[in-house]
Amino acid sequence: MMMPQAATGIEIEMVLDRRARVPQGAPMAIAILSAGERDRMRRAGRAASATLAYVGSRLAPGMTTLEIDRMVRAHTQAQGGRPSQLGYHGFPAAVCVSRNDIVCHGVPSERVRLAEGDIVNVDVTTELDGFHGDTSATFVIGDAAAHARALVELARGARDAGIAAAVPGARLGDIGAAIVGFVGDRGSIVEAYGGHGIGRAMHLDPHVPHVGRRGSGHRLREGMAFTIEPMINAGSAEIRTDADGWTVRTADGAWSAQFEHTVLIGPHGAEITTVPG
Ligand code: MF3
Ligand code: CO
Ligand code: CO
Repeated sequence: MMMPQAATGIEIEMVLDRRARVPQGAPMAIAILSAGERDRMRRAGRAASATLAYVGSRLAPGMTTLEIDRMVRAHTQAQGGRPSQLGYHGFPAAVCVSRNDIVCHGVPSERVRLAEGDIVNVDVTTELDGFHGDTSATFVIGDAAAHARALVELARGARDAGIAAAVPGARLGDIGAAIVGFVGDRGSIVEAYGGHGIGRAMHLDPHVPHVGRRGSGHRLREGMAFTIEPMINAGSAEIRTDADGWTVRTADGAWSAQFEHTVLIGPHGAEITTVPG
């Protein structure tokens, strides 16, 4: 056939959602992954998850965040993968390590040491066979204050509430609405950063807001892949970026926690790719 197949209305909506436009005016395209591509997403997700679990089990008071970076590089390479974040828009490390009041994009450093009572988010993104898996968790170092542990569990629950809302036929705004409903007045949800489409690149369309309105935004369809990664602050949602251009902190110095999974929309709900095999 020389002619491209005539697109049905449904196919057009899958590729071009005219109601959602990026600032340049170009229509937003959300990829629908084939069965083979989904399988490669699962393999990349498993690798990222394995590295996160490996590193998480080795965190201890006194460790520098640069040592975490070294572990991530070695473990990722041993699996045949590449740390997607290394060099991304000039990011100088293989992993984001965000401790206490750091919201996200903490740059590993030999001058930053983990201490008893800290909370630290480790965000691992692995490229394997051309596809990416992106996952993070916030770990508690030793004996932490009850309010710190509660913030960590609030962030984990917020992520999982968002995942539960990511069913085919739902809309992108339903994810953020579920997160808002779960968090309530127990913390504040950072709005400046969201989840993102993921696949052959780490960051793709769509932007996945963590604050949303039920029934708004793109319709979720089987074969879409994106992350859900709410950042929850104990104080206000306001943030500041350090002079290094990367490190994002809470404006008020209160602590922040985050969990992230990469999901694939399946026939009945979200399948988490960033889980151990
Ligand atoms: N893994 C991060 C995310 O969840 C990506 C951070 S971009 C970096 O989207 F350049 F800071 F690494
Ligand atoms: Co992400
Ligand atoms: Co991430």
